[in-house]
Amino acid sequence: MKNIVIFGAPGAGKGTQSDKMIEKYGFGHISTGDVLRAEIKNGTELGKTAKGFIDNGQLIPDELMIDILASVYDSFGKEHKGVIFDGFPRTIPQAEALKKMLSERGHQIAAMIELFVPEEELMKRLILRGEQSGRSDDNAETIQKRLNVYNTQTSPLIDWYQNEGIRHHVEGLGTIDEIFARIAKIIDNL
Ligand code: AP5
Ligand code: MG
Repeated sequence: MKNIVIFGAPGAGKGTQSDKMIEKYGFGHISTGDVLRAEIKNGTELGKTAKGFIDNGQLIPDELMIDILASVYDSFGKEHKGVIFDGFPRTIPQAEALKKMLSERGHQIAAMIELFVPEEELMKRLILRGEQSGRSDDNAETIQKRLNVYNTQTSPLIDWYQNEGIRHHVEGLGTIDEIFARIAKIIDNL
């Protein structure tokens, strides 16, 4: 079982590279952003709460995120090949909660893969996606807020996972396949 945290700033390629990992390794996938967007689409209470935070580029409170995590994880059953955590954890309390939830099941995170992409490129990618897909948080003002939240609340997790001894830094510039080759090398060595 290879549970993996795919980590990086907004637009770093977490979702794109998750798709490649699912295809090659048959992993399960939890994207908390996708979960929240589905809740918004279905008009649930959680969705109504989440929309305000997402459109303002802010994080949803930890308690709400942690509550949904275990049930989504358990939906993959007990004998899976591994689950990719995409967009979770985003704060140190979330990382601690993830570790606890997994250890209660006798599981753990095998690797944290940190995709590093410079801010100008992140902005370029997200503005382009905003024009093409219309994702409501892909406009210059909200992207800047998301980047600020990443830099202040989420990036401390790089050191946190470094201390856990499972952080892997990956250069996130290049073609999708070039970046995936860097990731696959790490996964194959776990
Ligand atoms: P979330 O949905 O997780 O968004 P994000 O982290 O801001 O990141 P993105 O999904 O925009 O980027 P990505 O890294 O997946 O990149 P992608 O592959 O799409 O979260 C959204 C919001 O939900 C948060 O702001 C927060 O409010 C809330 N939330 C979610 N999780 C939470 C949590 N745990 N706690 C609290 N709140 C939470 O690629 C981006 C674009 O670039 C795409 O168009 C893609 O085609 C393109 N691209 C990818 N790779 C390349 C490449 N190599 N070259 C050129 N273009 C590329
Ligand atoms: Mg994503």
